Amino acid sequence: MAPSVQDSCPSTPGKGKIERSSSHFGRVANRWQSPGSAHFFFWSFVLVGFMFYAVVHISPSGLHFMQHHSSTVRDLTWGGLLWEKQIEHSAHLKRETGLVVLVTGAAGFVGTHVSLALKRRGDGVVGIDNFNNYYDPSLKRSRQSLLEKQGVFVVEGDINDAVLLERLFSLIPFTHVVHLAAQAGVRYAMENPGSYVHSNIAGLVTLFEACKAANPQPAIVWASSSSVYGLNLKTPFSETDRTDQPASLYAATKKAGEEIAHTYNHIYGLSITGLRFFTVYGPWGRPDMAYFSFTKDILRGKPIDLYQGPNGIYPARDFTYIDDIVKGCLGSLDTAKKSTGSGGAKNGTAQLRVFNLGNTSPVPVPRLVNILEKYLRVKAIKNIMRMPKNGDVPFTHANISHARSEFGYNPTTDLSMGLKKFVKWYLTYYDTPLDRKFHD
Ligand SMILES: NC(=O)c1ccc[n+]([C@@H]2O[C@H](COP(=O)([O-])OP(=O)(O)OC[C@H]3O[C@@H](n4cnc5c(N)ncnc54)[C@H](O)[C@@H]3O)[C@@H](O)[C@H]2O)c1
Ligand SMILES: *[C@@H]1O[C@H](CO)[C@@H](O)[C@H](O)[C@H]1NC(C)=O
Ligand SMILES: *[C@@H]1O[C@H](CO)[C@@H](O)[C@H](O)[C@H]1NC(C)=O
Repeated sequence: MAPSVQDSCPSTPGKGKIERSSSHFGRVANRWQSPGSAHFFFWSFVLVGFMFYAVVHISPSGLHFMQHHSSTVRDLTWGGLLWEKQIEHSAHLKRETGLVVLVTGAAGFVGTHVSLALKRRGDGVVGIDNFNNYYDPSLKRSRQSLLEKQGVFVVEGDINDAVLLERLFSLIPFTHVVHLAAQAGVRYAMENPGSYVHSNIAGLVTLFEACKAANPQPAIVWASSSSVYGLNLKTPFSETDRTDQPASLYAATKKAGEEIAHTYNHIYGLSITGLRFFTVYGPWGRPDMAYFSFTKDILRGKPIDLYQGPNGIYPARDFTYIDDIVKGCLGSLDTAKKSTGSGGAKNGTAQLRVFNLGNTSPVPVPRLVNILEKYLRVKAIKNIMRMPKNGDVPFTHANISHARSEFGYNPTTDLSMGLKKFVKWYLTYYDTPLDRKFHD
C-alpha cells in the first residue's frame, strides 16, 4: 500500500500511525452502516472500474493522483464522483445571501458547533478534519455523525495536504474559511512538540497558500488563543497588550500564526480575522480539558489534582460557553470584508483583525469544582498540589469591548448555567445514571 500524505506527516507524530492502523476498519465499517451504504457499494464498483481505466489511459497528473490515493477502499472515494457529490451537496446554499464556508477542524469541539450553526441558518458548509487521536477519536466520529445528519460532510484529510486543499477550492468557490484545525492543549506540547509545528504552523501556511491561490480568495476567520497573552500581568487582557512572552509552545505557535496572518494579509491581500478564544467549554467538549476530566474522575470517585500557585492562590479562568463562542465566530464572519487579491496577487489593502472572545468573568478552579459537585451530586476527592511549570498561566480575563463594538459580541451564559448544560450532555452521552435523577 502506498503511503498517503498523512502517513508521512501524522498530526500527532508517534500517535498517528497507531491510530491509522487500528481504526482503519472502524472507518470502513462506519461507512457500511450509513444509510447511503447501498449507494456507496454500487459507486465503489463504478469507481474501481473508473480507476483502472484512469491508470491505463489518463494523463500523468492522473497517475500522480493514483499514487497518493488508491491504496484502500476509503481512499478510493477520495476525489471520486461520490466524494465530489457529497461535497457539492454539503456546500449547497439554502439562503440567497448565504456564505459558502470551509470549516477546518470540523469534527473538533468548536468546529462541530460552528458548522451546525452555519448550516442551520442556510449557509453552505464543508468540513475537513484528520481525526487524529490526540483525544478519543470516537468522540470526533460521533460529532461527524451529528454533522452528517444535518447535511454537513466532513472530508477526511490533513490541512498539510496541499493537493487536497487545491482540489476542494477548485470544486467549490468558498467565500469564507473558518480555520479551527490545530493541535490544542498546553501541557501536551512538552510531550509532542512536533505536532504543534505540524498543525499550527506548517498546516496554517499550507492553508493560507491554498486560500491565496484560490479564485475568488476567501475571507478567513481563524482561532488564535488567549494563551498568546502569556506572562502578561495587565488585566483584563486587551488586544493591544503585549503578546511576546508565550509561556508554552502552544502559545508560541498561536502567536506565530498571528504573525503569519499578517504576512499573508500584507503580501496577498487575504482578509484575515484572528479570534483569541478564552477557555471554551460545553456539550461535545474536549476530554483533555479540566472541566471534562474532572467530571469523569469525580463520577468514578477518582481524586482530582487542584493546582495552587504562589501564596496559595488558585488559578482562575475566563471560562466561555460554546454558544457564545459560536456567536462570536458568526459575528466575525458576517463583518469580514472580502479578500482583495486574485490569482496570487494583491489588489489593495485587505482587512486584518484580532478579537478577544471571552466571558469577562474569571472563575477560580475550585469554584468550578464546587459547581460540578452540585450537578453531579458527588463530593470530589481533591489532591491539592503546587502548580507545575508546564505552560499554564495563573489567570485569564478578557476585555471584549472590541468584539462588542464591531459585531455586538455579548456573552450571556455564566459558568454555572453552562456547566449544567455540559453535565446534562455528559450524562446522556456516556449513559451515566446519577444516584438521584438529574433534573434541570
Ligand atoms: N477550546 C478552547 O478552550 C480553545 C481555546 C483557545 C483556542 N482554541 C483553538 O480553537 C480551535 C478549536 O479548538 P477545539 O477546542 O475545538 O479543539 P479540537 O481539538 O476539538 O478541534 C480541532 C480539530 O482539528 C483537527 N485537526 C488537528 N490537526 C489537524 C490537521 N493537521 N489537519 C486536519 N485536521 C486537524 C482535530 O482532529 C480536531 O478535530 C483550535 O485552533 C484551538 O487551538 C480553543
Ligand atoms: C483592482 O481593484 C480595482 C478596484 O478596487 C479594480 O478596478 C481593478 O480591476 C482591480 N484589478 C485587478 C487586477 O483585479
Ligand atoms: C478594553 O479595550 C478597549 C479597546 O478595545 C480599550 O479602549 C479599553 O481601555 C480597554 N479596557 C480596559 C479596562 O482595559
